[in-house]
Amino acid sequence: MKMNDYINLINDYLNEYIQIEEPSELFKSMKYTVTLPGKRLRPVMCLETCSLSGGNFEDAIPCACAIEMLHAQTLIHDDLPCMDNDDFRRGKPSNHKVFGAAVATLSGDALLTYAPQIITKYSKTLSPSKIIMVLNEYFNYAGARGVIAGQVLDIESEKNNDINDKKNTLKYIYIHKTSDLFKLAMRTGAIIANVDDEKLNKITDFAQNFGIAFQMADDILDEISTFEEMGKTTGKDKEEGKLTCVSLYGLDESKNKLSCLLNKCHGIMNELNFKSEIFEQILDKIQKRMDI
Ligand code: IPE
Ligand code: IPE
Ligand code: MG
Ligand code: MG
Ligand code: MG
Repeated sequence: MKMNDYINLINDYLNEYIQIEEPSELFKSMKYTVTLPGKRLRPVMCLETCSLSGGNFEDAIPCACAIEMLHAQTLIHDDLPCMDNDDFRRGKPSNHKVFGAAVATLSGDALLTYAPQIITKYSKTLSPSKIIMVLNEYFNYAGARGVIAGQVLDIESEKNNDINDKKNTLKYIYIHKTSDLFKLAMRTGAIIANVDDEKLNKITDFAQNFGIAFQMADDILDEISTFEEMGKTTGKDKEEGKLTCVSLYGLDESKNKLSCLLNKCHGIMNELNFKSEIFEQILDKIQKRMDI
């Protein structure tokens, strides 16, 4: 499968998995952000990892879509006035700008539990023990020890000069707010394909490094890019005094670190013997955009 084939497939299933029912305002709000044109990186990486690991990617479709719903949930809450206060997402007004902060908060909450129900309802080809394993991954990375922990530290870092170990705090933020969803995506695909522990650990290591690189690129682009390119307001991280690689290391040093991480990612792909045009495209796109 090519990247676009996966994206079209994921879009079709996302559209089907959320039907508008009552209360319609809630379901419209859930469907709005989920179906806006995101890059679909996490579900694509889930399906491709499953395939590269010798599994049948179709078995992973409900899980991949659930992970994209979880990602959309993090974006809806991330944009709220009490968080990053961003008015645009995926090139359109943010969820709370269309539905109001109360419904946006509730539709994020709703997605958090709707997503694992998609896994249990539609994963017909997975055994009950496999479903428990993938749900366990979901709850681990979606919750208080996962992405939420990262988001709390991210918010606490704003205009906070009292952090004594900024380097490690930033690493913690990156690992949890960003790498955790990539770990969830790739581990889920790998688990469905029945990989052994050694391979699963390497795949987790790839996702950890990739997530950090991806968030560094996002932070750099917040500084140097435009609304037109990103589909979201830029320059906000500096305005809010967030702890980012740019605020801590500056642009040049950040790009050097990012380049090292991308090399590491290529190395792990080789160790895994994963020959994937899709992963090459994803890594190359960041490298080219960063001019590194
Ligand atoms: C945005 O993720 C949040 C970050 C981790 C920087 P993406 O850049 O993958 O967003 P979409 O899904 O394409 O909108
Ligand atoms: C967001 O990081 C990560 C999550 C949503 C969990 P950012 O706050 O940098 O993402 P953008 O720039 O708003 O997409
Ligand atoms: Mg944020
Ligand atoms: Mg944000
Ligand atoms: Mg950002």
